[in-house]
Amino acid sequence: MHANIVVLPGDGIGPEIIAATLPVLEAVAARHGHTFEFEEHDIGGIAIDRHGVPLPDTTLEAARKADAILLGAVGGPKWSDPNAKVRPEQGLLAIRKGLGLFANLRPTKPHPAALGASPIKPHLLEGVDILVVRELTGGIYFGDKTRSATDATDLCRYTVAEIERVVRSAGRLARQRRGHLTSVDKANVLETSRLWRDVTSRVMREEFPDVAVEHQLVDSMAMHLLSKPRAYDVIVTENMFGDILTDEASMLAGSLGLLASASLGDGKVGIYEPIHGSAPDIAGKGIANPYATILSAALLLRHSLGLEAEAASIEAAVSAALDAKVFTADLAPAGQAVNTTQAAQAVIERLA
Ligand code: IPM
Ligand code: MN
Repeated sequence: MHANIVVLPGDGIGPEIIAATLPVLEAVAARHGHTFEFEEHDIGGIAIDRHGVPLPDTTLEAARKADAILLGAVGGPKWSDPNAKVRPEQGLLAIRKGLGLFANLRPTKPHPAALGASPIKPHLLEGVDILVVRELTGGIYFGDKTRSATDATDLCRYTVAEIERVVRSAGRLARQRRGHLTSVDKANVLETSRLWRDVTSRVMREEFPDVAVEHQLVDSMAMHLLSKPRAYDVIVTENMFGDILTDEASMLAGSLGLLASASLGDGKVGIYEPIHGSAPDIAGKGIANPYATILSAALLLRHSLGLEAEAASIEAAVSAALDAKVFTADLAPAGQAVNTTQAAQAVIERLA
């Protein structure tokens, strides 16, 4: 097949991990007889520098026409002045919203070879396989904001329709997996959470009677995620809780550098990006872990292009590279790390 992939490297380590990932996609395309066209555009801090805005119209228009979007990361100290009018992160939020990508899939499955890198005891990690479905275009991230000299507000709002659609996505995914859904909220305090819980219960009862549903408060969920991670299959939650819980979940896998994500809406187009940020502290050194971005490219092949075998071949190759202990500095014992390019090369060598 022929696919048009918009590539948004962004800031910090973004360009490095994207540069490492494109050859993996090229190698898969060559092996399976596909042609992928990559069209690069600016987003985030680099877009502020070049165009004055974090999401130029040209980038959004290209993304709308694309079959899929591969994104690195945005942000950095250069654009982090608390008084700045525009921030790189606004570009990311605007493109998610602009494309209607309301469901953010963040899988965590600790790899046996990387268990030692996790701060959690290995026996708790065996068999862990969690998929967090984070609501991505609503809630406190997108509510009205105010700021005066003496106070500030962020409005958290959810509509029934916003909750229904992401719960349906999570329900379908739970059905394809182990048939268990955990919905996370703060219904003992927040009205939006009480609505979330009501809508989730109804949608699951009416449309997914075959999926077991459990409700958890976000504070105890944060604890259970570390004390009994094997108990969870699909977790669905609102935007900010999902942001926080998935950084926490990455510690089960041993490194933030291993977690991929897919942001999906009603159609086929999606944004695929690692869950980690732009890591300004290591940017430009060529040592960032490219696996999360490479695994995001696998999700792109699966969800936007329908290329399941190709997606699985990338995942198997990353797994084989981890088995061979091809680790970047975030995972490797001192003195044994490979660099970004070497890690990506190890994946290419292991593509079936
Ligand atoms: C993420 C990031 C973003 C978010 C930031 C950069 C806006 O932390 O993708 O998890 O909060 O959604
Ligand atoms: Mn985050």
